[in-house]
Formats: sequence, structure tokens, C-alpha cells
Amino acid sequence: MKVISYEKFGSATEVLKVQEIELQKPRQEEVVVKLKYSGVNPSDAKARAGNRPGVTRPEYSLVVPNSDGSGVIEEVGSNLDKSLIGKRVWLRNGQWKRPFGTAAEYITIAVENIVEMPSKMTFQEGATMGIPGLTAAHGIFGTGEVIGKTLLISGGGGAVGHLAIQLAKWGGAKVIATGSKSSAEPILNFGADYFFDYSSDKLVSQINEVVPDGVDRVIEVEFGLNLNWIHNVLKPNGTIAVFGSAKEMNPIIPFGPYLFKAIKIDIFLIYILPVKERKIAINYLHSAYEQKALKPKIDSIFKLEDCDKAHDRTLTKGRKGAVLLEI
Ligand SMILES: NC(=O)c1ccc[n+]([C@@H]2O[C@H](COP(=O)([O-])OP(=O)(O)OC[C@H]3O[C@@H](n4cnc5c(N)ncnc54)[C@H](OP(=O)(O)O)[C@@H]3O)[C@@H](O)[C@H]2O)c1
Repeated sequence: MKVISYEKFGSATEVLKVQEIELQKPRQEEVVVKLKYSGVNPSDAKARAGNRPGVTRPEYSLVVPNSDGSGVIEEVGSNLDKSLIGKRVWLRNGQWKRPFGTAAEYITIAVENIVEMPSKMTFQEGATMGIPGLTAAHGIFGTGEVIGKTLLISGGGGAVGHLAIQLAKWGGAKVIATGSKSSAEPILNFGADYFFDYSSDKLVSQINEVVPDGVDRVIEVEFGLNLNWIHNVLKPNGTIAVFGSAKEMNPIIPFGPYLFKAIKIDIFLIYILPVKERKIAINYLHSAYEQKALKPKIDSIFKLEDCDKAHDRTLTKGRKGAVLLEI
């Protein structure tokens, strides 16, 4: 089968190569999925570039990148029911602690990483459910229902952020979202009640003005850049659900203000979200989708051979939604 692969860390154009490799037979609890789309995320590009903390070389001699995807089950392992064959699925963790991800014509993967898609979900949409979808759902609902709550979604125009806004509104929350100036219109169209420019020096007073009692939960994409002010808009005992801090990976927390509001910092990594929470997140995603409250936005679709361009696109400022490879 045709795959995109790399053997060493480096820039996308330098290290990603088109290659033929043999498709692995499924083990007892594995399925073979014929892929329709590969979902490409910043995490895939950072892993290929060698930017994961403490990792100096690829864990495998050959890596097929990208963890998300969608397709149709074509073969199942001996412990699995043959009725799975033909099911339309999205999948997660394709290239997490294993070498062969979704930048490929097929993937052989444990059945626990496969999720049957709602009947109306398209393959493009399915390929956005793994990293962006689960992150948004856990970010919003990680401490339970949000009806009547006030949430601050940082970076509401992003691949994760725009799904988070839609889920929060569907869940009955009041939503304040931040973004750069150019993302005001899409953020309000995704359903946010208020938009504020994250670079404004009046941000705290603007948020305090519309929610004088503070917000219950912040869903934070750039923790290191924002931690010096978010405690000023949080209620006592509020939570910051942190999923990103790419621009400042060594944040220094102002402990006093955090302590005296007893702020909870809930850092999570979607690859290792415990099964119970993952099932809850999937349920929220599918329910919102089936009720037409969730519409993933696709920024761009590349050919498999242009995986390098897709990787670079995930790290380009101003992208609006998911980046996919059409297989
Ligand atoms: N922990 C996890 O499991 C997990 C899961 C998913 C993603 N992530 C990480 O989360 C980050 C975002 O992923 P993504 O796919 O959503 O990327 P994305 O589509 O590029 O979104 C990033 C968003 O952050 C916004 N932003 C930039 N600076 C900001 C600031 N100072 N304050 C608030 N928002 C700011 C951007 O807004 P503008 O474009 O308007 O400037 C953009 O909307 C990446 O670092 C990714 O690796 C982590």
C-alpha cells in the first residue's frame, strides 16, 4: 500500500516521502480500515519535527504520520465479529505509541480506537473527530453538564475552538470566546455570545463587563500566554481546562491569585484520555452532531502525496478549521 513516511525528524518537505509498504494482517482484536481521509493536526507536525519534550529521535525506524482518520472496515481479527466489515468509522491514536498512522491507504489498528460514525456524518467530518472533536468535547464537558454555566473559550476560531463553541452552546452555556480580530465574524457565527480580541489590553475589563460574576470554566489553548490574566475573570473554585500552550511551554503560574480563588488546572492530553471520559466525550459529539448542532469546519484538503503541505498548514496562523488528506 502507498503511505507517506519519515525516518528522521526534520522539516516536512525534507523528511516526508511517498513509499510502498506491506499492509499488516490484523491481530485478534484489530481491524483493517480502508482510509478515505487522514486528519492532520498540529501534534502530528510537531511529532515529525521532533518537538515533543524529551524525544530526540523517532521511536520507530519508519513512521507513517497522522493519528486521525475515517474510512470503512475491510477486514477484522479472529476475535471480532465479521459484521463489523463494511462499517463507516472514524478513528483515533493512529500514530500514538505505534508507528503506522493514517497518511496511508489502509491502517491496521486495535478495535478500541475505532468509532462507528453517525449515519449522516461525512468521512471528512469523521476525520475531525479524533483530536479536535474529543479535545473540544472533553474541554467543555470534562466536569459535567454546562447548562446555565458561563464558559470562556480561548482561541474560538481554531480547529478545537470552533467545535468547543458549538458544543458549549448546544449544552446550554453562555459562551465568551477570544480570537484574533479576523476571527470575530466566524466565532460569532459558530454561536459565541461574545467575542473579544485576545491581543486587546482591555480584555479583562471587557470580559468582566459582560460577566461581572466571572466564568465557571476556561477552555485554554495558549495557557502560557494567558495565565497572567485568566484568574481575573474566573469565579472562585473555577476550572481552567488546558489543552495547549504551544507558544510558551514553560509557564510560570502566579500562585497567590490562583490559590486565593482555588483555581483548578485540568491539563489533559487527548491521546491518553481514560476510556470512561472518552466514551462520554464521544457520546456528546455524536449527540450534538445528530441534533445538527455540530458542524466541523474544514480549512483545506490535500492529496496524500502533499502531506508535507498539510503538515505545514496545521501550523500556519489564520487557518480556519481542520486540515485533511484525501486518500
Ligand atoms: N492536549 C491535547 O490533547 C491537545 C489536543 C488538540 C490540540 N492540542 C494543541 O492545541 C493547540 C491548538 O490546536 P488546534 O488544532 O485547535 O490549532 P488551530 O486551529 O491553529 O487553533 C489555534 C487557535 O489559537 C488561537 N490563539 C493564538 N494565540 C492565542 C492567544 N494568545 N490566546 C487565545 N487564542 C490564541 C488562534 O487564533 P487566531 O488564529 O485567530 O490567531 C487559533 O484560533 C495546538 O498547540 C495543539 O497541539 C492539544
